Amino acid sequence: MRVLGVETSCDETAAAVVEVGDAASERPRARALSNVVHTQAEVHEKFGGVVPELASRDHLQRVLPVLDEALREAGCALRDLDGISVTRGPGLVGALLVGVQVGKSLAAGARLPLVGVNHIEGHLLAVLLSDHAPAPPWLGLVVSGGHTSLYEVRALGQYRALGHTLDDAAGEAFDKVAKLLGLPYPGGAHIDRLAQGGDRTKYTFPRGLSRRSKTVQFDFSFSGLKTAVQTHVREHGQADLADLCASFQEAVCDALTLRAVRAARGAGLHALVICGGVAANSRLRALALERCAAEEISLHLPSPKLCTDNGAMIAMAGAVHLARGERAAAQMSADPGWRL
Ligand code: KG4
Ligand code: ZN
Repeated sequence: MRVLGVETSCDETAAAVVEVGDAASERPRARALSNVVHTQAEVHEKFGGVVPELASRDHLQRVLPVLDEALREAGCALRDLDGISVTRGPGLVGALLVGVQVGKSLAAGARLPLVGVNHIEGHLLAVLLSDHAPAPPWLGLVVSGGHTSLYEVRALGQYRALGHTLDDAAGEAFDKVAKLLGLPYPGGAHIDRLAQGGDRTKYTFPRGLSRRSKTVQFDFSFSGLKTAVQTHVREHGQADLADLCASFQEAVCDALTLRAVRAARGAGLHALVICGGVAANSRLRALALERCAAEEISLHLPSPKLCTDNGAMIAMAGAVHLARGERAAAQMSADPGWRL
């Protein structure tokens, strides 16, 4: 089946067409025929974070051209599609509404089935578009600008939350630390690049929740780490920017991989998928590979383009639900606080 995916939950306007072989199976064969992303980074950069009103307005201006390009790149017209999938939540309500309304209008006009999917499920299922996707059950670590969570994927569409961040998301920590170091927004990729020339053992920053880790085994906390970097910069300056970036990044990646491996072991899972924007981080990928190899866990990392927000992951998750006969209700609207 061919599904068009539309994503407007935050600061990327994205659309894509995916082709899925056996969408009702537990490991569908799938590939993206197109994957068009317009990022609003430039719009929000001078504010150091996403401004919701500006995000909605930019989505409105970009969503139709992005959709056209996704269809053109895939070489299809609306009549060649089997369904439309749109992000219904979680995210910014005004931003989500743009995608939801466009999806509803297109589906009604072209008489196509429509489904509204959860953005986090989209991140988790992006791995199905890569060559070596695991068959469930597997453990999913979602690390993005808005979320840091561990899920047991028992079957496609069936998820059990094992842990969440108690304060900042991992990407948010990257962005906040980048801001205090004077780097552009969003800062994750800048820290990643600078860290490559630094010494990650130079400073030992807190990994979060060490004392409480027995009771909240799979939860995360990054606000203490951000404060520690802030205090360090205030007291010692940031002359050694590369070492500072590398040491901060090491603390985040250490905390993430340690808990992911521990959760996999605890839940008896032998495959780990890391997804979301922060999964594009080079040190996170390397450290996860090292730790998973030592624990005989197979590691699955979507390509960086499938890790950051995109329409293909929404189309993929939509295909899974459409194949099971699910359809959006006529009164479907955005659900900004939707928990998976
Ligand atoms: O998944 P995503 O595109 O959007 C959300 O759903 O939030 O994730 C964006 C986040 C931002 O915080 C960004 O700084 C971070 O992913 N990010 C990175 C890297 N590339 C993107 N963080 C660390 N290293 C990277 N290479
Ligand atoms: Zn995301």
